[in-house]
Amino acid sequence: MEASQHKTSNEQKANLCLLEPLLEKNSDLRGSAIAVLQEAQKIYGYLPMEVLERISTATNEPLAKLYGVATFYTQFRLKPIGKHLIMLCQGTACHVMGADRVQQAIEDELRIEDGETTEDGIFTLMTVACLGCCSLAPAMMIDGETYAKLTSDSVRSILRNLRKETRDRC
Ligand code: FES
Repeated sequence: MEASQHKTSNEQKANLCLLEPLLEKNSDLRGSAIAVLQEAQKIYGYLPMEVLERISTATNEPLAKLYGVATFYTQFRLKPIGKHLIMLCQGTACHVMGADRVQQAIEDELRIEDGETTEDGIFTLMTVACLGCCSLAPAMMIDGETYAKLTSDSVRSILRNLRKETRDRC
Protein backbone atom coordinates (compact mmCIF):
# COMPACT_ATOMS: atom_id res chain seq x y z
CA MET A 1 0.00 0.00 0.00
CA GLU A 2 1.36 3.41 -0.91
CA ALA A 3 1.92 5.92 1.86
CA SER A 4 0.25 8.56 -0.29
CA GLN A 5 -3.05 6.70 -0.53
CA HIS A 6 -5.94 8.85 0.66
CA LYS A 7 -8.19 7.66 3.41
CA THR A 8 -11.93 7.84 2.80
CA SER A 9 -14.16 9.67 5.25
CA ASN A 10 -15.12 6.46 7.08
CA GLU A 11 -11.52 5.30 7.39
CA GLN A 12 -10.01 6.37 10.69
CA LYS A 13 -7.08 5.27 12.76
CA ALA A 14 -7.86 1.89 14.25
CA ASN A 15 -8.00 1.53 18.03
CA LEU A 16 -5.26 -1.06 18.50
CA CYS A 17 -6.26 -1.79 22.12
CA LEU A 18 -9.17 -3.83 20.75
CA LEU A 19 -6.63 -6.22 19.28
CA GLU A 20 -4.82 -7.07 22.52
CA PRO A 21 -7.06 -9.95 23.75
CA LEU A 22 -6.66 -11.62 20.35
CA LEU A 23 -2.88 -11.19 20.44
CA GLU A 24 -2.65 -12.52 23.97
CA LYS A 25 -4.26 -15.75 22.79
CA ASN A 26 -2.10 -15.94 19.65
CA SER A 27 1.50 -15.09 20.46
CA ASP A 28 2.63 -16.84 17.32
CA LEU A 29 0.74 -17.50 14.13
CA ARG A 30 1.91 -20.99 13.23
CA GLY A 31 -1.01 -22.32 11.24
CA SER A 32 -3.41 -19.68 12.50
CA ALA A 33 -2.69 -16.59 10.40
CA ILE A 34 -5.98 -16.82 8.51
CA ALA A 35 -8.02 -17.35 11.69
CA VAL A 36 -6.33 -14.40 13.41
CA LEU A 37 -6.89 -12.13 10.41
CA GLN A 38 -10.54 -13.23 10.33
CA GLU A 39 -10.93 -12.31 13.99
CA ALA A 40 -9.21 -8.98 13.45
CA GLN A 41 -11.52 -8.23 10.53
CA LYS A 42 -14.53 -9.02 12.73
CA ILE A 43 -13.30 -6.40 15.19
CA TYR A 44 -12.63 -3.61 12.68
CA GLY A 45 -14.84 -4.58 9.73
CA TYR A 46 -11.70 -4.62 7.57
CA LEU A 47 -7.94 -4.94 8.02
CA PRO A 48 -6.32 -1.54 8.43
CA MET A 49 -2.59 -1.46 7.71
CA GLU A 50 -1.78 -0.49 11.31
CA VAL A 51 -3.60 -3.62 12.49
CA LEU A 52 -1.49 -5.82 10.19
CA GLU A 53 1.62 -4.05 11.50
CA ARG A 54 0.60 -4.63 15.13
CA ILE A 55 -0.10 -8.33 14.49
CA SER A 56 3.25 -8.62 12.74
CA THR A 57 5.15 -7.02 15.64
CA ALA A 58 3.35 -9.03 18.31
CA THR A 59 3.80 -12.39 16.60
CA ASN A 60 7.12 -11.92 14.77
CA GLU A 61 5.35 -12.81 11.55
CA PRO A 62 6.73 -10.80 8.60
CA LEU A 63 4.37 -8.01 7.59
CA ALA A 64 4.81 -8.92 3.91
CA LYS A 65 3.53 -12.42 4.65
CA LEU A 66 0.44 -11.13 6.47
CA TYR A 67 -0.20 -8.62 3.72
CA GLY A 68 0.16 -11.44 1.18
CA VAL A 69 -2.48 -13.52 2.97
CA ALA A 70 -4.82 -10.53 3.32
CA THR A 71 -4.59 -9.69 -0.37
CA PHE A 72 -4.75 -13.29 -1.61
CA TYR A 73 -8.07 -14.25 -0.04
CA THR A 74 -11.14 -12.37 -1.24
CA GLN A 75 -12.75 -12.68 2.21
CA PHE A 76 -10.32 -10.05 3.50
CA ARG A 77 -10.80 -6.34 2.98
CA LEU A 78 -8.02 -3.79 3.30
CA LYS A 79 -10.44 -0.88 3.09
CA PRO A 80 -13.61 -0.21 5.07
CA ILE A 81 -16.85 -0.91 3.28
CA GLY A 82 -19.52 1.74 2.88
CA LYS A 83 -22.85 1.93 4.71
CA HIS A 84 -24.48 0.10 1.80
CA LEU A 85 -22.86 -2.85 0.08
CA ILE A 86 -23.93 -3.23 -3.54
CA MET A 87 -23.50 -6.81 -4.74
CA LEU A 88 -23.95 -6.71 -8.47
CA CYS A 89 -24.34 -10.05 -10.18
CA GLN A 90 -22.06 -10.77 -13.10
CA GLY A 91 -23.08 -14.43 -13.42
CA THR A 92 -23.94 -15.83 -16.83
CA ALA A 93 -27.68 -15.04 -16.85
CA CYS A 94 -27.15 -11.50 -15.60
CA HIS A 95 -24.23 -10.97 -17.95
CA VAL A 96 -26.36 -12.05 -20.94
CA MET A 97 -29.17 -9.73 -19.80
CA GLY A 98 -26.96 -6.65 -19.67
CA ALA A 99 -25.17 -6.60 -16.29
CA ASP A 100 -22.23 -4.82 -17.94
CA ARG A 101 -24.43 -1.86 -18.80
CA VAL A 102 -25.81 -1.82 -15.26
CA GLN A 103 -22.29 -1.93 -13.84
CA GLN A 104 -21.23 0.94 -16.07
CA ALA A 105 -24.21 2.99 -14.88
CA ILE A 106 -23.33 2.29 -11.22
CA GLU A 107 -19.68 3.18 -11.76
CA ASP A 108 -20.59 6.39 -13.58
CA GLU A 109 -23.19 7.38 -11.00
CA LEU A 110 -20.99 6.69 -7.97
CA ARG A 111 -17.60 7.39 -9.56
CA ILE A 112 -16.14 4.17 -8.24
CA GLU A 113 -15.08 0.87 -9.72
CA ASP A 114 -15.61 -2.71 -8.60
CA GLY A 115 -14.28 -3.18 -5.07
CA GLU A 116 -14.20 0.52 -4.24
CA THR A 117 -16.09 2.71 -1.78
CA THR A 118 -17.49 6.16 -2.52
CA GLU A 119 -15.71 9.18 -1.03
CA ASP A 120 -18.70 9.84 1.25
CA GLY A 121 -18.51 6.26 2.58
CA ILE A 122 -22.10 5.49 1.58
CA PHE A 123 -21.61 2.80 -1.09
CA THR A 124 -19.22 -0.05 -1.79
CA LEU A 125 -19.52 -1.91 -5.09
CA MET A 126 -18.71 -5.61 -5.37
CA THR A 127 -19.41 -7.84 -8.32
CA VAL A 128 -20.34 -11.44 -7.53
CA ALA A 129 -20.75 -14.63 -9.54
CA CYS A 130 -24.44 -15.49 -9.00
CA LEU A 131 -26.99 -14.29 -6.48
CA GLY A 132 -29.18 -17.34 -7.01
CA CYS A 133 -32.10 -15.46 -8.57
CA CYS A 134 -31.24 -15.82 -12.25
CA SER A 135 -34.84 -15.39 -13.45
CA LEU A 136 -34.63 -11.80 -12.16
CA ALA A 137 -31.55 -10.97 -14.25
CA PRO A 138 -29.86 -8.59 -14.32
CA ALA A 139 -29.98 -8.39 -10.54
CA MET A 140 -28.17 -6.90 -7.57
CA MET A 141 -28.53 -7.00 -3.81
CA ILE A 142 -28.05 -4.07 -1.48
CA ASP A 143 -27.93 -4.85 2.22
CA GLY A 144 -29.72 -8.14 1.57
CA GLU A 145 -32.54 -6.68 -0.53
CA THR A 146 -32.81 -7.92 -4.12
CA TYR A 147 -33.31 -5.53 -7.03
CA ALA A 148 -34.49 -7.23 -10.22
CA LYS A 149 -34.47 -6.70 -13.99
CA LEU A 150 -32.25 -3.68 -13.70
CA THR A 151 -31.64 -1.11 -16.40
CA SER A 152 -29.14 1.73 -16.43
CA ASP A 153 -31.95 4.14 -15.56
CA SER A 154 -33.52 2.06 -12.81
CA VAL A 155 -30.20 1.45 -11.08
CA ARG A 156 -29.35 5.14 -11.13
CA SER A 157 -32.70 5.98 -9.61
CA ILE A 158 -32.32 3.29 -6.89
CA LEU A 159 -28.89 4.63 -5.95
CA ARG A 160 -30.00 8.27 -5.90
CA ASN A 161 -32.96 7.47 -3.64
CA LEU A 162 -30.83 5.41 -1.29
CA ARG A 163 -28.15 8.07 -1.10
CA LYS A 164 -30.76 10.74 -0.35
CA GLU A 165 -32.41 8.57 2.33
CA THR A 166 -29.03 7.87 3.92
CA ARG A 167 -28.03 11.54 3.95
CA ASP A 168 -31.42 12.60 5.32
CA ARG A 169 -31.03 10.16 8.20
CA CYS A 170 -27.61 11.56 9.18
S1 FES B 1 -26.55 -15.13 -12.83
FE1 FES B 1 -27.24 -13.38 -11.79
S2 FES B 1 -28.52 -14.16 -10.26
FE2 FES B 1 -27.72 -15.91 -11.21
